[in-house]
Amino acid sequence: MKVLITAGPTREPIDPVRYIGNRSSGKMGAALAAAALKAGHLVTLILGPGTVPMPGGARQIAVETAAQMHDAVLREFPAHDLLIMAAAVADFRPRQIQPDKVSRTGPLTIECEPTEDVIANAGRIKRPDQRTIGFSLESASNLIRARQKLKRKRLDLMVYNPIATMESPSVGAILLWPDGRSKELSMLSKPDFARKLIERVPELFKTSRKVARRR
Ligand code: CTP
Repeated sequence: MKVLITAGPTREPIDPVRYIGNRSSGKMGAALAAAALKAGHLVTLILGPGTVPMPGGARQIAVETAAQMHDAVLREFPAHDLLIMAAAVADFRPRQIQPDKVSRTGPLTIECEPTEDVIANAGRIKRPDQRTIGFSLESASNLIRARQKLKRKRLDLMVYNPIATMESPSVGAILLWPDGRSKELSMLSKPDFARKLIERVPELFKTSRKVARRR
Protein backbone atom coordinates (compact mmCIF):
# COMPACT_ATOMS: atom_id res chain seq x y z
CA MET A 1 0.00 0.00 0.00
CA LYS A 2 1.18 3.56 -0.69
CA VAL A 3 0.83 5.78 2.36
CA LEU A 4 1.12 9.57 2.36
CA ILE A 5 1.86 11.05 5.79
CA THR A 6 2.09 14.73 6.72
CA ALA A 7 4.00 15.75 9.84
CA GLY A 8 5.12 18.77 11.81
CA PRO A 9 4.00 22.39 11.88
CA THR A 10 3.66 24.91 9.09
CA ARG A 11 5.13 28.41 9.27
CA GLU A 12 3.21 31.39 7.97
CA PRO A 13 5.54 34.33 7.30
CA ILE A 14 4.87 37.77 8.82
CA ASP A 15 8.00 39.42 7.40
CA PRO A 16 11.41 38.10 6.20
CA VAL A 17 12.39 36.98 9.74
CA ARG A 18 9.17 36.23 11.64
CA TYR A 19 6.39 33.73 11.28
CA ILE A 20 3.26 32.33 12.92
CA GLY A 21 3.91 28.72 13.91
CA ASN A 22 3.00 26.09 16.49
CA ARG A 23 4.60 23.59 18.86
CA SER A 24 4.27 20.48 16.69
CA SER A 25 7.43 18.34 16.72
CA GLY A 26 6.56 15.82 14.00
CA LYS A 27 7.11 12.93 16.47
CA MET A 28 3.74 11.40 15.67
CA GLY A 29 4.46 11.56 11.92
CA ALA A 30 7.89 9.99 12.45
CA ALA A 31 6.35 7.15 14.51
CA LEU A 32 3.63 6.60 11.90
CA ALA A 33 6.19 6.52 9.08
CA ALA A 34 8.35 4.00 10.98
CA ALA A 35 5.32 1.78 11.73
CA ALA A 36 4.06 1.96 8.13
CA LEU A 37 7.50 1.10 6.73
CA LYS A 38 7.82 -1.82 9.17
CA ALA A 39 4.41 -3.09 8.01
CA GLY A 40 5.75 -3.14 4.44
CA HIS A 41 4.03 -0.03 3.06
CA LEU A 42 5.63 2.51 0.72
CA VAL A 43 5.73 5.84 2.53
CA THR A 44 5.86 9.44 1.32
CA LEU A 45 6.32 12.11 4.00
CA ILE A 46 5.33 15.73 3.55
CA LEU A 47 7.20 17.56 6.27
CA GLY A 48 6.82 20.96 7.82
CA PRO A 49 9.94 22.78 9.09
CA GLY A 50 12.03 21.81 12.13
CA THR A 51 10.67 18.34 12.71
CA VAL A 52 12.48 15.51 14.55
CA PRO A 53 14.55 13.17 12.32
CA MET A 54 12.39 10.93 10.14
CA PRO A 55 13.03 7.21 9.50
CA GLY A 56 15.13 6.34 6.46
CA GLY A 57 13.31 4.56 3.66
CA ALA A 58 10.52 7.11 3.24
CA ARG A 59 10.44 9.57 0.39
CA GLN A 60 10.49 13.08 1.90
CA ILE A 61 9.05 16.33 0.59
CA ALA A 62 9.85 19.46 2.59
CA VAL A 63 7.36 22.33 2.79
CA GLU A 64 7.14 25.50 4.84
CA THR A 65 3.65 27.00 4.64
CA ALA A 66 0.09 25.65 4.77
CA ALA A 67 -0.36 26.63 1.11
CA GLN A 68 2.74 24.62 0.15
CA MET A 69 1.53 21.63 2.21
CA HIS A 70 -1.87 21.92 0.51
CA ASP A 71 -0.30 21.91 -2.97
CA ALA A 72 2.03 19.00 -2.13
CA VAL A 73 -0.78 16.87 -0.64
CA LEU A 74 -3.19 17.47 -3.53
CA ARG A 75 -0.41 16.68 -6.02
CA GLU A 76 0.72 13.47 -4.24
CA PHE A 77 -2.59 12.06 -2.94
CA PRO A 78 -3.84 10.61 -6.28
CA ALA A 79 -0.78 8.28 -6.39
CA HIS A 80 -1.39 6.99 -2.84
CA ASP A 81 -3.97 4.70 -1.19
CA LEU A 82 -4.05 6.42 2.18
CA LEU A 83 -3.46 9.93 3.54
CA ILE A 84 -2.64 10.31 7.24
CA MET A 85 -2.76 13.99 8.13
CA ALA A 86 -0.69 14.19 11.33
CA ALA A 87 0.62 17.70 10.53
CA ALA A 88 -0.43 20.62 12.68
CA VAL A 89 -1.34 22.92 9.81
CA ALA A 90 -1.50 26.60 10.81
CA ASP A 91 -5.15 27.68 10.77
CA PHE A 92 -4.40 31.32 9.94
CA ARG A 93 -1.79 33.21 7.93
CA PRO A 94 -1.05 36.94 7.71
CA ARG A 95 -3.08 38.46 4.89
CA GLN A 96 0.02 40.31 3.73
CA ILE A 97 3.67 39.40 4.13
CA GLN A 98 5.68 42.54 4.95
CA PRO A 99 8.58 42.79 2.45
CA ASP A 100 10.95 44.30 5.09
CA LYS A 101 11.53 43.42 8.73
CA VAL A 102 8.85 45.20 10.77
CA SER A 103 10.56 47.48 13.33
CA ARG A 104 9.51 47.69 16.96
CA THR A 105 8.18 51.22 16.91
CA GLY A 106 4.79 50.56 18.51
CA PRO A 107 1.93 48.10 18.74
CA LEU A 108 1.54 45.68 15.85
CA THR A 109 -1.74 44.35 14.49
CA ILE A 110 -1.55 41.47 12.03
CA GLU A 111 -4.63 40.75 9.97
CA CYS A 112 -4.93 37.05 9.26
CA GLU A 113 -6.97 34.88 6.92
CA PRO A 114 -7.78 31.17 7.22
CA THR A 115 -5.50 28.72 5.44
CA GLU A 116 -6.70 26.03 3.05
CA ASP A 117 -8.21 22.97 4.77
CA VAL A 118 -5.81 20.41 3.36
CA ILE A 119 -7.51 17.17 4.39
CA ALA A 120 -11.00 18.49 3.54
CA ASN A 121 -9.80 19.30 0.02
CA ALA A 122 -8.11 15.89 -0.23
CA GLY A 123 -11.51 14.45 0.83
CA ARG A 124 -13.11 16.22 -2.15
CA ILE A 125 -10.83 14.45 -4.67
CA LYS A 126 -10.81 11.11 -2.80
CA ARG A 127 -11.63 8.11 -4.99
CA PRO A 128 -13.67 5.18 -3.61
CA ASP A 129 -10.45 3.16 -3.29
CA GLN A 130 -8.67 5.77 -1.16
CA ARG A 131 -8.87 6.54 2.57
CA THR A 132 -8.05 9.55 4.77
CA ILE A 133 -7.19 9.66 8.47
CA GLY A 134 -7.18 12.93 10.45
CA PHE A 135 -6.12 13.97 13.94
CA SER A 136 -8.22 16.22 16.12
CA LEU A 137 -6.38 17.98 18.92
CA GLU A 138 -8.87 19.56 21.29
CA SER A 139 -8.22 21.57 24.44
CA ALA A 140 -11.42 20.45 26.17
CA SER A 141 -12.99 17.03 26.08
CA ASN A 142 -15.07 17.62 22.95
CA LEU A 143 -15.97 14.51 21.02
CA ILE A 144 -18.93 16.21 19.34
CA ARG A 145 -16.62 18.69 17.60
CA ALA A 146 -14.27 15.87 16.60
CA ARG A 147 -17.21 13.93 15.11
CA GLN A 148 -18.37 17.03 13.22
CA LYS A 149 -14.88 17.42 11.75
CA LEU A 150 -14.83 13.73 10.79
CA LYS A 151 -17.98 14.31 8.70
CA ARG A 152 -17.10 17.78 7.36
CA LYS A 153 -13.66 16.63 6.21
CA ARG A 154 -15.02 13.30 4.85
CA LEU A 155 -12.53 11.25 6.86
CA ASP A 156 -12.53 7.47 7.17
CA LEU A 157 -11.03 7.65 10.67
CA MET A 158 -10.47 10.46 13.15
CA VAL A 159 -7.90 10.23 15.94
CA TYR A 160 -9.12 12.40 18.78
CA ASN A 161 -6.53 13.37 21.36
CA PRO A 162 -6.02 15.98 24.06
CA ILE A 163 -3.79 19.00 23.52
CA ALA A 164 -1.18 17.54 25.93
CA THR A 165 -0.23 15.11 23.14
CA MET A 166 1.61 17.89 21.34
CA GLU A 167 5.35 17.73 22.29
CA SER A 168 4.60 14.76 24.57
CA PRO A 169 6.22 11.31 24.10
CA SER A 170 2.88 9.57 24.79
CA VAL A 171 -0.68 9.72 23.53
CA GLY A 172 -4.13 8.93 24.94
CA ALA A 173 -6.45 8.69 21.94
CA ILE A 174 -10.02 7.87 21.02
CA LEU A 175 -10.57 6.53 17.50
CA LEU A 176 -13.79 7.68 15.79
CA TRP A 177 -15.31 6.13 12.66
CA PRO A 178 -17.95 7.66 10.33
CA ASP A 179 -20.49 4.92 11.21
CA GLY A 180 -20.54 6.16 14.81
CA ARG A 181 -18.20 3.55 16.32
CA SER A 182 -15.47 4.69 18.70
CA LYS A 183 -12.64 3.06 20.62
CA GLU A 184 -10.69 4.51 23.51
CA LEU A 185 -7.06 3.38 23.56
CA SER A 186 -4.97 3.23 26.72
CA MET A 187 -2.10 5.70 27.20
CA LEU A 188 0.60 4.59 24.78
CA SER A 189 4.01 5.76 23.62
CA LYS A 190 3.83 7.38 20.17
CA PRO A 191 5.61 4.37 18.53
CA ASP A 192 3.13 1.93 20.18
CA PHE A 193 0.15 4.09 19.23
CA ALA A 194 1.46 4.38 15.64
CA ARG A 195 1.84 0.59 15.41
CA LYS A 196 -1.75 0.08 16.62
CA LEU A 197 -3.11 2.65 14.16
CA ILE A 198 -1.21 1.17 11.21
CA GLU A 199 -2.47 -2.32 12.20
CA ARG A 200 -6.02 -1.00 11.74
CA VAL A 201 -5.42 0.37 8.24
CA PRO A 202 -6.41 -2.78 6.27
CA GLU A 203 -9.87 -2.85 7.94
CA LEU A 204 -10.53 0.69 6.64
CA PHE A 205 -10.33 -0.69 3.13
CA LYS A 206 -12.80 -3.49 3.85
CA THR A 207 -15.57 -1.36 5.31
CA SER A 208 -17.50 1.91 5.06
CA ARG A 209 -16.74 2.95 1.47
CA LYS A 210 -17.47 1.08 -1.74
CA VAL A 211 -14.10 -0.27 -2.85
CA ALA A 212 -13.40 0.27 -6.51
CA ARG A 213 -10.74 -1.40 -8.58
CA ARG A 214 -7.36 -1.34 -6.73
CA ARG A 215 -4.28 -0.26 -8.59
N1 CTP B 1 -6.12 20.20 8.91
C1 CTP B 1 -5.84 20.44 7.58
N2 CTP B 1 -5.75 21.72 7.12
C2 CTP B 1 -5.92 22.77 7.98
C3 CTP B 1 -6.20 22.54 9.34
C4 CTP B 1 -6.29 21.23 9.78
O1 CTP B 1 -5.69 19.47 6.82
N3 CTP B 1 -5.81 24.01 7.50
C5 CTP B 1 -6.22 18.79 9.37
C6 CTP B 1 -5.28 18.43 10.50
O2 CTP B 1 -4.03 17.98 10.01
C7 CTP B 1 -6.03 17.31 11.20
C8 CTP B 1 -7.49 17.66 10.97
O3 CTP B 1 -7.52 18.59 9.89
O4 CTP B 1 -5.78 16.05 10.65
C9 CTP B 1 -8.18 18.28 12.16
O5 CTP B 1 -7.42 19.40 12.60
P1 CTP B 1 -8.03 20.48 13.58
O6 CTP B 1 -6.99 21.52 13.84
O7 CTP B 1 -8.63 19.77 14.75
O8 CTP B 1 -9.21 21.05 12.68
P2 CTP B 1 -9.58 22.50 12.22
O9 CTP B 1 -10.28 22.37 10.91
O10 CTP B 1 -8.37 23.36 12.26
O11 CTP B 1 -10.63 22.91 13.30
P3 CTP B 1 -10.61 24.03 14.43
O12 CTP B 1 -9.40 24.88 14.24
O13 CTP B 1 -11.90 24.76 14.20
O14 CTP B 1 -10.60 23.27 15.71
